[in-house]
Amino acid sequence: MDSKTVFSKIYLLFLYVSIVQAQPTVFDITKFGAVADGKADTSQAILSAWKEACAATGSSKILIPAGTFLSGVVSVEGPCKGGIEIEVQGTLQAPPDLQGEGWFNFDHVDEFTISGKGTFDGQGESAWKANNCAKDPKCKPMPMNFRFNFIKKGLVRDVTSLNSKNFHVNVLGCEDFTFQSFIITAPETSINTDGIHIGRSKGVNIIDTKIGTGDDCISIGDGTQNLKVSKVTCGPGHGISIGSLGRYENEEPVSGITVTGCTLTNTMNGVRIKSWPAQFGGSASDIHFEDITMENVSNPILIDQNYCPYGQCNDKGPSKVKISGVSIKNIKGTSASALSVKLDCSSGFPCENVELADIDLAYSGAEGPAKSECTNVKPTITGKLNPAGCQ
Ligand SMILES: *[C@@H]1O[C@H](CO)[C@@H](O)[C@H](O)[C@H]1NC(C)=O
Repeated sequence: MDSKTVFSKIYLLFLYVSIVQAQPTVFDITKFGAVADGKADTSQAILSAWKEACAATGSSKILIPAGTFLSGVVSVEGPCKGGIEIEVQGTLQAPPDLQGEGWFNFDHVDEFTISGKGTFDGQGESAWKANNCAKDPKCKPMPMNFRFNFIKKGLVRDVTSLNSKNFHVNVLGCEDFTFQSFIITAPETSINTDGIHIGRSKGVNIIDTKIGTGDDCISIGDGTQNLKVSKVTCGPGHGISIGSLGRYENEEPVSGITVTGCTLTNTMNGVRIKSWPAQFGGSASDIHFEDITMENVSNPILIDQNYCPYGQCNDKGPSKVKISGVSIKNIKGTSASALSVKLDCSSGFPCENVELADIDLAYSGAEGPAKSECTNVKPTITGKLNPAGCQ
């Protein structure tokens, strides 16, 4: 062989080795005892598959094949030796009477992906009926479909979260976490089923995601930084919400929030920032809502610093949460209420640097002429503001 042939053979060998190495090792849960009969609990099989996948070097894939698998609580912790993907082709079902804080709980797992066209069905109907949290602040927690805690480089892609008993997804202490082409579904009447709740996390992205649920589609809690929400549809639901803030002591600032190219349909709110009166301090800044379509939304644009659901606030007095650097631009569509734009800021900490630009919201209901209302804030207004007000 001449040296050229030797080189090309070595090159092909390297190419082959790198292709083989790029394939993840697959851990099929049916090889660990899972049976797709919708009756036998597969959580042990999932945990056994996880244990091997987590200990394996290189990337691993846990496969949930087609079929219906009943599963109890799955709680796993990293760090793992390599990246892990859970590919769901079938349906995972939670027992209707499942208890605890979370159904699928992932802690400290880096380079973690959930993918596939499959479904996580929380079977929440009976839990919603039993939910008494509106009356009893010490009510028993119901499990969320997913809890992602302290994950770096996470991705949830294509799967469906169905009928969670509580929030569908809770993101806490994560960094660089993306939801893409994710689907969240629950009825309008389901109680407390927020779509994605984010707290104390940096660099979360929610892209091309379809959310219909009984509470906030996306709720943004304290300590959320650099969140990008883009091309999300919301409805039914309570809208895209920052807060509530200022209910608890030592809340961290919310900053760098961008919501663009979204459509909200028949929701209770559109884009909202809410904080409790009196109580504790906090801040929300560098917040941008842009290019959003509202279809029959009850409170399309809302800052509510007197948020006090079910009369649960003890103190009277202005909110101590400071809101600043907010732009609301190019918001079009229809409002289901006459008060389409309501910016109700704190008298103790008025909102600053608020910009309204190109707002055009039609109202055709019976409540009389539509209006915009601003309290303790003097927004900069550019382009159209329909309905008028706030000057
Ligand atoms: C508009 O929203 C209201 C209040 O949420 C609802 O009752 C009504 O059915 C909606 N209209 C349409 C056309 O969907």
